[in-house]
Amino acid sequence: MPGFWYGGDYSPEQWPPAVWEEDDALMRQAGVNTATVGVFAWSTLEPAEGTYDFTWLDRTLDRLHANGVRVILATPTASPPPWFSLAHPDALPVTPEGTQRWHGSRDTYCAAAPAYREAAKRVTAALGERYAEHPAVAMWHVHNEYGTPCYCEHVAAAFRCWLRARYDGDLAALNDAWYTRFWSQGYRTWDEILPPRDTQYLPNPAHAVDFARFWSDELLAAYREQRDILRGHTPDTPITTNFMLPDGYQMLDFWRWSAEVDVVAIDHYLNATGVAGTIDVAFGADRARSFNRNRPWLLMEQAVSTMWPGHGEMVTAKEPGRLLRDSLAYVARGSDSVLAFQWRASRGGSELHHAAMVPHAGADTRVFREVAALGRTLSGLDEIVGSTVRASVAILWDADTRWALELPVTPSRHLRYVPALRDTHAALWRAGAVADFARYEDDLSRYAVVFAPSAYLLSPAAAKSLASYVEGGGHLVLGCFSGVVDERYQAWLGGFPGGLLEALGVRVEEFHPLAPGQTVALTDGATGQLWSEDLATHGAEVLAGYRGGVLDGKPAITRHTHGEGTGWYVSTFLNEGSTDRLVRRVLDAAGVRPELPGAPEGVEAVRRHGSDGRSWLFLFNHTDNTATVPAHGRELLTGAHIEGALRLAPLEVAVIRETRPPEVN
Ligand code: GLA
Repeated sequence: MPGFWYGGDYSPEQWPPAVWEEDDALMRQAGVNTATVGVFAWSTLEPAEGTYDFTWLDRTLDRLHANGVRVILATPTASPPPWFSLAHPDALPVTPEGTQRWHGSRDTYCAAAPAYREAAKRVTAALGERYAEHPAVAMWHVHNEYGTPCYCEHVAAAFRCWLRARYDGDLAALNDAWYTRFWSQGYRTWDEILPPRDTQYLPNPAHAVDFARFWSDELLAAYREQRDILRGHTPDTPITTNFMLPDGYQMLDFWRWSAEVDVVAIDHYLNATGVAGTIDVAFGADRARSFNRNRPWLLMEQAVSTMWPGHGEMVTAKEPGRLLRDSLAYVARGSDSVLAFQWRASRGGSELHHAAMVPHAGADTRVFREVAALGRTLSGLDEIVGSTVRASVAILWDADTRWALELPVTPSRHLRYVPALRDTHAALWRAGAVADFARYEDDLSRYAVVFAPSAYLLSPAAAKSLASYVEGGGHLVLGCFSGVVDERYQAWLGGFPGGLLEALGVRVEEFHPLAPGQTVALTDGATGQLWSEDLATHGAEVLAGYRGGVLDGKPAITRHTHGEGTGWYVSTFLNEGSTDRLVRRVLDAAGVRPELPGAPEGVEAVRRHGSDGRSWLFLFNHTDNTATVPAHGRELLTGAHIEGALRLAPLEVAVIRETRPPEVN
């Protein structure tokens, strides 16, 4: 089936058959061609241990297939039924404080519990066997949003096993790495090691980061078991699981996980309204594309209305037109799908107030009309499927650093990893440059500029990769509080950023965190916040110094030529305007042009490129004014022929099949 995958999570098991008929009709009306089925349906599928009821699922798959809807079939293992937890209380998750959680919600299981793993494998095998030949099944969706943490005895045992492998069975090596002479933590046997449960005072950070690595790997092992069972039944059907990307939910090392799925799929719920929400779309989409090694990826869930700007306190309904804009913004940045949670709003249950493609009020609603219009729009864009996005700048994304910076042992709890990355990404968005995310071990030389806003945890290998990137001609922009600890969470000695003193031509001696709201002025007119550092240059040119305060007269922003390239160092967090100025200056110095030179302020431009040399320019006018944008080609939403300039109304979107090859960076 060609075209974008359009649709959402579909739970017919929650509704009587009369509603199914209406679903079929409305899906046709909305141009829905994809349904994700079975995500939390374990108790319906297996009402008692080993007893399966497939009747509803057989009918659903047959019906969807007859209706021209492909199925992403999920394993239901994110929500074990009550009979399971009562039979296996040891498979319930335990908090760091030692409290056992009970069933009554979802995701209430311990992924390291043998009984859970066995039950998950059984139900997966049953599904694989039954539906291996079903023509509706286009993809497997293993589990849902892996992440539930646990600190029980099963986890302790699995953690020890993982540690033995990591430290080659050498407990002395673990004691060294964890620096256990501090606070009398020396371990004499592996069995003395616990998960980082609630303890008296500050945790050992090396222990905590190893546990985070372990838990990501343990969940990955659980995923792999299911994947391999399904692969055995259907070797040619792609298999994935959905990553959850909000800032507070980072249990997985997405790079490692991405290598194990056939296509990266993300769930993305906006954390802000207005243009900030739009930038959040770009942040999620750019990460998903990068995790999928720049191939088209899947938006597995979004909310067709509602955002969570109030951090869980209240939702905000998306304004009319936003669904189209956001959906095409994911597509512009490489998604080959527009899928939502969920098709029909649940009548009851914990998420009865969650937005859906068919709201409680029915099809005669603004939301459903927009959903149907979006389906029509997407069906006119089929030719774009499979094309890719090109970026000439990258931001480094590192799971270890994210975990390391969240621990309460750093000099300031206001210094956070994801917000630092977001600030840089947003400045690039405002500068009109599309950014990839990258890892230290990637071939960074394909990027003209690499930003590392907070490379706090830097292994010697990672530092070497950054240094060679600069030597080879790249522009590295390193943010403050970088190269501070290595992969064992031990400080780099001799000055920061560890491993990069030569490449950057600076040496940081001491940190001076700033209180929230406190700012520091720089000599070039910029403003710093949250953080400042006492540094000296060793060959680097000073672009701006601190003005006033204890660091008065000392360097703040530097630039150093090293080998063929340039190492920039920024020793504070610049405010938005100052970040924008610096980012534009670096892009200029590296010869990076915006995606669409000449695009007016507030107009977002992103391109997808086909393998045959064709390109499609996506334009979004995020302003309240009509904008005139340079473009040549066929506008696919209206069919208009554009010769030289396109007028975009406030908040309008356009997709242009270009007739003139874009200028390449
Ligand atoms: C997640 C889940 C869905 C639903 C949504 C709500 O992404 O996968 O089942 O709970 O959140 O936003």
